[in-house]
Amino acid sequence: MTGNKKVVAALLDVLTDLTAEQISEKLESPKSSDLGDVAFPTFTLAKVLHKAPQQIATDIVAQINQDEFEKVVATGPYVNFFLDKVATSAKTLQTIIDLKSHFGHNDDGEGNNVTIDMSSPNIAKPMSMGHLRSTVIGNALANITAKNGYVPVKINHLGDWGTQFGKLIYAYKTWGSAEEVKADPIATLLRYYVEFHAKAKVDDTLNDEGRAWFKKLEDGDQEAHNLWQWFREESLKEFTEIYDRLGISFDSFNGEAFYNDKMDKVIDLLEDKALLVRSQGAQIVDLSGINPNLTPAMIKRSDGATLYMTRDLAAAIYRKDTYHFTKSLYVVGGEQREHFTQMKAVLSLMGFDWADDIEHISFGLITFNGKKMSTRKGDVVLLKDVLDDAHDLALKQIEEKNPTLNNKDMVAEQVGAGAVVFHDLMNDRTNNFDFNLDEVVRFEGDTGPYVQYTNARAKSILRKAGQMITTGDLSLTDSSTWDIITILNNFPATVRRAWDQREASIIAKYALTLSRAFNKYYANSKILTDDSQLNARLALVQSVTIVLSESLRLLGVQAPEEM
Ligand code: ARG
Repeated sequence: MTGNKKVVAALLDVLTDLTAEQISEKLESPKSSDLGDVAFPTFTLAKVLHKAPQQIATDIVAQINQDEFEKVVATGPYVNFFLDKVATSAKTLQTIIDLKSHFGHNDDGEGNNVTIDMSSPNIAKPMSMGHLRSTVIGNALANITAKNGYVPVKINHLGDWGTQFGKLIYAYKTWGSAEEVKADPIATLLRYYVEFHAKAKVDDTLNDEGRAWFKKLEDGDQEAHNLWQWFREESLKEFTEIYDRLGISFDSFNGEAFYNDKMDKVIDLLEDKALLVRSQGAQIVDLSGINPNLTPAMIKRSDGATLYMTRDLAAAIYRKDTYHFTKSLYVVGGEQREHFTQMKAVLSLMGFDWADDIEHISFGLITFNGKKMSTRKGDVVLLKDVLDDAHDLALKQIEEKNPTLNNKDMVAEQVGAGAVVFHDLMNDRTNNFDFNLDEVVRFEGDTGPYVQYTNARAKSILRKAGQMITTGDLSLTDSSTWDIITILNNFPATVRRAWDQREASIIAKYALTLSRAFNKYYANSKILTDDSQLNARLALVQSVTIVLSESLRLLGVQAPEEM
């Protein structure tokens, strides 16, 4: 039994009218460790027992079995428990060493599916830092759902349909060339797109041409379809390079185009329920009944073309029918809040009660060294360049710190990409933040490389010791390890909280806290001294690397053995 469980069991013997659950809910962490490890407040019992809280606390202490604890004391209205540190630490280390990376796993999800709409960049445009956020937050949430016993389904809802493809086809046919596209697909297609907008400003007929080509595409015109397919394939190749670098995979690449033959059904359903209203030639769903502030959802444009919303409605229904999800997450920037509120509202009007299981996992804006980005003007920060720069910065530091390291280039890639991903994830996702690579790739401070470095340091201690701990006496009497033990013990609850709040940053912050505690211990102790505690200290180091590596894995960050 660890920490809280022991306290609950002891209190249950005295407070026979309460259930284990009722006791467990009341437990708190004392503000300072001088006050013990677990506190039980007695305020709420005062009414029932007709006694002052202070008196209740004193009575409990008089009756409770103290054998399992270092001591139990009444401090005002609180019963404070000081855990038996030696026994608790031995128990904690044994649990982690037995369970290894499975430590912290729970079965709350009972194998239910959670669909996660993530990354979803737009074809023929470079992947932006905003898409990076969706990709890494989605990936970390997928790992966290799995750790909580669910089955994540990672869906890349590619932006591979819409009027912009009509514009692109027109631009390509009018002033583009196959050689140019082949040489550098996304950059060239982006250039055509930017040029199209510049020219359309002067000559409005271009917009009609673009619309006409999109109509052809929607009507199944062969030439338009072939060009579209080619652009899509080339774009996907470039996206895949980035996903590979980040070690991220998907269960589905069904993008917007996938729903082309699934939208009639949505429109029929809307018609059956008499939800479609004509407005200036377009078809809309009025949502004011659900929320007076919501603008109507546009389902069909006046020229008959379907919209982003229509495809999302079809996608939501398809996902429910195919994956029978318990939760359906959409990791998309905060600027699309209204879109998802509308989508959920339309689905509830259609009578789908599972609309309540849809969650928009919104996130904040990212600026790059203080600059905003926009695709229309073509001034984008390319993710590929960011990863390359991060790689170079990491390599520079490795050259300084560890010039004889093998595979420097591979480690620099793990550290560079890891730094970018970690920085994105350590901020609460709804915060806006700035990206300064020099800060992000540092080996000290609140960074991914700091956690990786701490983990590699712990691994190197184990290598030096030349042994792995499996059994033997794990009782630590050194009180300077107590902080680390407490943090390790918190890992399972942290995994739960990260899922409850859909916040990968909870895991990132946890990894930083554990790293700091371990480095503090490392700086002040001789771990490899041959005395009776050596076995237990190595178990501690091993437990730290197990939990740090697992935290990094949850975040989608690699854990190099050496760096
Ligand atoms: N492609 C869209 C964009 O870049 C994001 C798509 C998000 N997913 C969705 N099902 N709408 O803005």
